[in-house]
Amino acid sequence: ADELAGRFPLTPNPHPADDDEYARIMRELRFGMDFTDHMVHAHWSAQTGWGQRETRAYGPLTLSPAATIFHYGQECFEGIKAYRHADGSIWTFRPGYNAARFAASARRLCLPELEPGDFEAALVDLVRADARWVPTGEGSSLYLRPFMIGTEPHLGVHPAAEVDFYCIASPSGPYFATGFDAVSIGLVRDYHRAGPGGTGAAKTGGNYAASLLPQQLAAEQGFSQVCFLDVTGTYLEELGGMNLFVVGADGSVRTPRVDTGTVLEGGTRHALIQLMKDEGIDVAECDIALTELVQGMASGEVRELFACGTAAVITPIGRLACEDFDVSVPTGELTRHLYDRLTGIQLGREDDPHGWMYKI
Ligand code: COI
Repeated sequence: ADELAGRFPLTPNPHPADDDEYARIMRELRFGMDFTDHMVHAHWSAQTGWGQRETRAYGPLTLSPAATIFHYGQECFEGIKAYRHADGSIWTFRPGYNAARFAASARRLCLPELEPGDFEAALVDLVRADARWVPTGEGSSLYLRPFMIGTEPHLGVHPAAEVDFYCIASPSGPYFATGFDAVSIGLVRDYHRAGPGGTGAAKTGGNYAASLLPQQLAAEQGFSQVCFLDVTGTYLEELGGMNLFVVGADGSVRTPRVDTGTVLEGGTRHALIQLMKDEGIDVAECDIALTELVQGMASGEVRELFACGTAAVITPIGRLACEDFDVSVPTGELTRHLYDRLTGIQLGREDDPHGWMYKI
């Protein structure tokens, strides 16, 4: 990290959060509702490429009302966390994975690519500037949100010739207020998150915007998340912002395949597949039919179900329901084990055989 540090030079915030506000935020640790003193920024123009880079006071942006982000949703983002280890040192998890995915999302959205070194430098400079905001304790971290937006003021539908990259940071507790308790999932048939050839594999705001109404309808019925099916209504794809794993009573593990281009390949998903492989568990990335899952949950052939994502980490799913079925599974051993193993690596309590942790 030392070689990358300083690419986004710091102008300190003259009005950082005062002691009372800082103490309140770090005591409450909500998810994604409070922000640190600084943010990173870089500007790109089609003529000159990436130019001015800085770490400056967190605060409102001034943009033209005609900026393409407001009209055509030209944007992409990432989610990545910084963790404080017991010795006080600060680490992040596989920034190269997120850098590569950010570049892939940018290509799909006709945004310029940020080279991986700059992506990682942005995290390093921001976290070093705001180190006091990295919390300690189970389930807490500094959630980093890099994002890129088209800012050219032009109502023609074409890629913006002016783009801005930012990274903001939010000291956060668990995504689900219920912590590691099992969540319930409402299945939606009338809405899809993504279709073939669309933007489902990119991490772009539009996919999340498309998930809001079904998510709201599911919440009205008491569910904490929605589960989306493919456009034929046959196969499981993903939840509102998380991937999904199915554990069989025979020990087999499956997760929806991502080569359809309609599912976002999560970093946590990717890491869990590797961790299971390390322990001799082969994970099948395949089509999983809803009808088969429901039957399996009803008959006991499916033993565990869990969701995963950077924000949600690993969250057991206890119940899956729709108008025509309502099935439950208890929280299982593998779910708990994977949670302990992954967070053990991230918090520096366990060995890191793949060199995933990156010291800031
Ligand atoms: C993440 O898991 O980091 C995401 O970006 C998903 C979102 C639901 C918070």
